[in-house]
Amino acid sequence: MTFDYKVADLGLAEFGRKEIRLAEHEMPGLMAMRAQYGESKPLAGARIMGSLHMTIQTAVLIETLVALGAEVRWVSCNIFSTQDHAAAAVVVGPNGTADAPQGVPVFAWKGETLEEYWWCTEQALTWPGNDGPNMILDDGGDATMLVHKGTEFEKAGAVPDPSTAESEEYGVVLSVLTRTLQEDPQRWTTIGQGIKGVTEETTTGVHRLYEMHKAGALLFPAINVNDSVTKSKFDNKYGCRHSLIDGINRATDVLIGGKVAVVCGYGDVGKGCAESLRGQGARVIVTEIDPICALQAAMDGYQVTTLDDVVGTADIFVTTTGNKDVITADQMSRMKHQAIVGNIGHFDNEIDMAGLYKTAGIERVTIKPQVDEFRFADGHTVIILSEGRLLNLGNATGHPSFVMSNSFTNQVLAQIELFAKTTEYPTDVYVLPKHLDEMVARLHLDALGVKLTELSKEQAEYLGVPVEGPYKSDAYRY
Ligand code: NAI
Repeated sequence: MTFDYKVADLGLAEFGRKEIRLAEHEMPGLMAMRAQYGESKPLAGARIMGSLHMTIQTAVLIETLVALGAEVRWVSCNIFSTQDHAAAAVVVGPNGTADAPQGVPVFAWKGETLEEYWWCTEQALTWPGNDGPNMILDDGGDATMLVHKGTEFEKAGAVPDPSTAESEEYGVVLSVLTRTLQEDPQRWTTIGQGIKGVTEETTTGVHRLYEMHKAGALLFPAINVNDSVTKSKFDNKYGCRHSLIDGINRATDVLIGGKVAVVCGYGDVGKGCAESLRGQGARVIVTEIDPICALQAAMDGYQVTTLDDVVGTADIFVTTTGNKDVITADQMSRMKHQAIVGNIGHFDNEIDMAGLYKTAGIERVTIKPQVDEFRFADGHTVIILSEGRLLNLGNATGHPSFVMSNSFTNQVLAQIELFAKTTEYPTDVYVLPKHLDEMVARLHLDALGVKLTELSKEQAEYLGVPVEGPYKSDAYRY
């Protein structure tokens, strides 16, 4: 079998396969999906385009989707987050060889340029012999955005002008659309019409979906996987609690204990980050714009103040907001010598990198890939991780398997819902029903030796819930 793909080195596949084998043991939710649906194949006929960090954990997700009958094409949703051995192993497949790959077309490698990144996204959305995918599995919404923007330009008959783009990256997107419009003026409209739905992994992508739906622009139904409790209250929190300090340690190896660390944002990601820094003995300060989250941070024992108050005295700064311009170039110019600045939110605009590059007299010294020192005219420097892109995937390997098994089991269930029950989901943004959320959690209890207490019939009646769940109302916040 021959197929198109582009990864760094198929020679890394054996290493990738060994790590996939270890990860499978740590991903009981995904393996349960294979056991439950491997024979009935509810995803037979699905052509899933995935745009999500191409890691070892994602490899287990991809091979689960294939085991359930889907055809898959994949890209990373970040230029630095691919693990090249994982990408190679997925292309080669469990039974293939580097000379005769038999797996899944992947277009991803660590350290893509922006042009390469969007080229990869376009390739994965291009189905040989068909108009395109009929499902998207997205993380951050870039694939969904490309289909929507393309359709928008095609409908308006307008030619995009890359020189008007508000960012370098959007300029690249507009260049892609300018070319595709010339090649086929109906390309994205056709692809959009063929898509039954998208399942979205993260807070930032979900935000984009609700905005599009509010504007009446959403082209197909979406399931918000992020807001499954077993996703955002686990991956965003416990995942970042693990992978934030992994990234800081691999990048800098600086002793975190005793340092003053500032966490901007105290949502799910911020809570996990603050806890892990405190666990290392850092003195943690939180910044927030939301009074509820600020009060939570204070009651959890953190000092809560503004960034300007501590910008000149703290040692480590982490943005976790999903917002833009959270740390400005001017603030970086006022930091201590060799202050560490990193972002774990989805996009790279939380730290004003564009402003930093434009600062008069600034000099960039690359220490190693994804670790740069920026020297200001007065001689002091700041250390920037992953050029302001999410550091836990750029400087480390992202979240570990067990937590991603929770997130990805939600993804598989959401793909089955939208693909197999299309008519039940008119265009809107949905979350998975609570009984599925509880099922995902249940699938991960045995591995941790958790013994659940069972409600008696009388207790269940007293609480007004079924013995077998769901146990909480939709308003319950965990
Ligand atoms: P969230 O909405 O729960 O938390 C963000 C918090 O930031 C909110 O409490 C908000 O009030 C606060 N905030 C907004 N602007 C602020 C500002 N200027 N200063 C201080 N605080 C501010 O979102 P969540 O789930 O914590 O996600 C945050 C980001 O992380 C998103 O972009 C999400 O997509 C991304 N994410 C990244 C992961 C990773 O592995 N790197 C994993 C999961 C999510």
